[in-house]
Amino acid sequence: MKKPADNNYPINELSRERWSPRAFADKPVETRHAASLLEAARWSPSAINEQPWRFILGIKGDSSWEKLFDTLIGWNKQWADRAPLLLMVVGKENYSSNGKPNNFHAYDCGQAMAHITLEATNLGLFTHQMGGFSVEKATELFQIPDGYKPLAVMAIGHYGDPDTLPEEMKERELASRERKELKELIFSGKFGEPSPLF
Ligand SMILES: Cc1cc2nc3c(=O)[nH]c(=O)nc-3n(C[C@H](O)[C@H](O)[C@H](O)COP(=O)(O)O)c2cc1C
Repeated sequence: MKKPADNNYPINELSRERWSPRAFADKPVETRHAASLLEAARWSPSAINEQPWRFILGIKGDSSWEKLFDTLIGWNKQWADRAPLLLMVVGKENYSSNGKPNNFHAYDCGQAMAHITLEATNLGLFTHQMGGFSVEKATELFQIPDGYKPLAVMAIGHYGDPDTLPEEMKERELASRERKELKELIFSGKFGEPSPLF
């Protein structure tokens, strides 16, 4: 199913086509494609090239997938159970060079995940990120040390059948994608003052 952006200005096809479904197919992701997704993340930019991202990859059927699934809140468990890959991004909170707090670790990890979303679109795969998971459970189940913070979980896979979703989720799945207008978001002069460009 396609849900392209209703963009007002031309954008590249991957950004236009990417969206976050909940109906995943019960079909594995090829190993070479999983590798490409993580390679795309590896090459994303980060403050002073710290590369603060660490990933925990679960492949359906393995114990990491089970543990990642276990960290999800009930809402996400309702749909993410079909996803062949679950991926948790864990941020390194301090700079390696001097141990000082890296205020950009979450920003950089989000950016790495964004690169994965576009690489997935490029490969005909779909991603759905989740903030609805237990940081405490993840920390415990994966023995994540101090100084590292689980930030988000991503479901990755092929598109499935929206009829497999509970009714409320199916409605959301079929709804059009909404965005704020650029004029609400782009300021100049001072914060809140719309840019004359939009
Ligand atoms: C950091 C983050 C956390 C999210 N958490 C959840 C979540 O817990 N459950 C869920 O169903 N969707 C979650 N989403 C998906 C968003 O709702 C979705 O990206 C947004 O509605 C825009 O839709 P689109 O990605 O299809 O354009 C999350 C997305 C992001 C980036």
